[in-house]
Amino acid sequence: MDRKLVILGAQWGDEGKGKIVDLLSENYDITVRYQGGSNAGHTVIANGEKFILHLLPTGILHPHVVGVIAQGMVVDLEVLDKELENLKSKDIPYEGRLIVSDRAHLVLPYHKLLDQLFEKKSGIGTTLRGIGPAYMFKFGRKGIRLCDLSDEKKFKSLLEENVEFVNDLCEKVFRERSNLEVNEIFERTLRVFEKYKEFVGDVSRFLLGTDKTILFEGAQGTMLDIDMGTYPFVTSSNSSALGLANGTGLSPKYFSDAYLLGIAKAYTTRVGGGPFPTELKGEEGDRLRDLGGEYGSTTGRPRRCGWLDLVALKYAKEINSFDGLIITKLDVLDTFDEIKVCVAYELEGERIEHFPASSKILEEVKPIYETLKGWKKSTKGIRDREDLPPQAMEYIRFIEEFTGVPVIMLSTGPKREEFVWLREPQRTKVSYS
Ligand code: IMP
Repeated sequence: MDRKLVILGAQWGDEGKGKIVDLLSENYDITVRYQGGSNAGHTVIANGEKFILHLLPTGILHPHVVGVIAQGMVVDLEVLDKELENLKSKDIPYEGRLIVSDRAHLVLPYHKLLDQLFEKKSGIGTTLRGIGPAYMFKFGRKGIRLCDLSDEKKFKSLLEENVEFVNDLCEKVFRERSNLEVNEIFERTLRVFEKYKEFVGDVSRFLLGTDKTILFEGAQGTMLDIDMGTYPFVTSSNSSALGLANGTGLSPKYFSDAYLLGIAKAYTTRVGGGPFPTELKGEEGDRLRDLGGEYGSTTGRPRRCGWLDLVALKYAKEINSFDGLIITKLDVLDTFDEIKVCVAYELEGERIEHFPASSKILEEVKPIYETLKGWKKSTKGIRDREDLPPQAMEYIRFIEEFTGVPVIMLSTGPKREEFVWLREPQRTKVSYS
């Protein structure tokens, strides 16, 4: 087993990372989230109970795992409180196994307010969790970090400055009055901070000082990456492998011995606005949504659904350097006579084989499909490779050959035990031919 394992979404998020992290983190001592915030919604069914974790690393559900919230995350303390209270109520103690970076920025009520106001015009379809504005403040050097909370005077003055700025913005730009109260935010934030301040510390030092096994849990997906995704229809952090170094505060060299695992659904979904070349708008799309239960775990919104886009997946493989792939929700395709996969795009009669930077171009391209035979047999819950229908294996082989990455596991249902190993999850490169 690799000492460092990185799990990344290879599409537009919602690839089923929660279940995979939950499954694999059993073998790890530490799990780290390092980008994004409570916009994520990692759904896990553990001990017969459904958990949706937005902020905490999924690994924390295992009693031996230390959960880490690294500095690249933006932390909403109210959400943290809710999630930790929920763990407590389910008899999952977390004392002594949680570290929250003192360098992480806070998501405060005015970030959520701004998210709503910006959203009215942008059409991005954010989760309204204040993520974009929190990163705006961070990069605009106006952010408030967890380490600022130990100095109440400093915290108060930063807060006053920010609230005044947001009030001005509301009035002058949005022509709305905000009802932000500095004292209320100040007191509420400190109340929660007091409760958890013993968990706040220097994450980079902690990671450098340990030789234990570590799983890095990416949130969202590569195509939502602020730099490499379908900009501006993206999230505000580096949700591809680019986020590893800046999110943990460690050099790219630190990750040179890590195994990078991409998670992709057997088809494609996305929530919110933005280009989606293989989107199916009619009956087939509805069928995928119904069969896959494709509704957002953070917002409950219906997800847009379509066939697997191998141009996008190959692009994700290239920028992330995936060592292996896990394909999830294979069983959702069980009843289709034919299954299409997008192998290139077409624009004004020209074939495009790369993933374009411009969202406008991506809106205009038409997918070029290859059609594969469906297997028309249930794969739900299959645990043994031998039980997989030959056409399903053909489908997987097609993905491997196109992307050049071995598929090491298939997920065949939402439960922890519903999966099949196709190859051993070790660093040794396996031939996929
Ligand atoms: P934000 O991250 O809330 O700012 O939302 C920006 C875009 O990323 C929107 O299209 C969201 O739907 C999408 N997004 C954010 N988090 C997730 C996620 O965990 N899964 C899927 N999409 C997400």
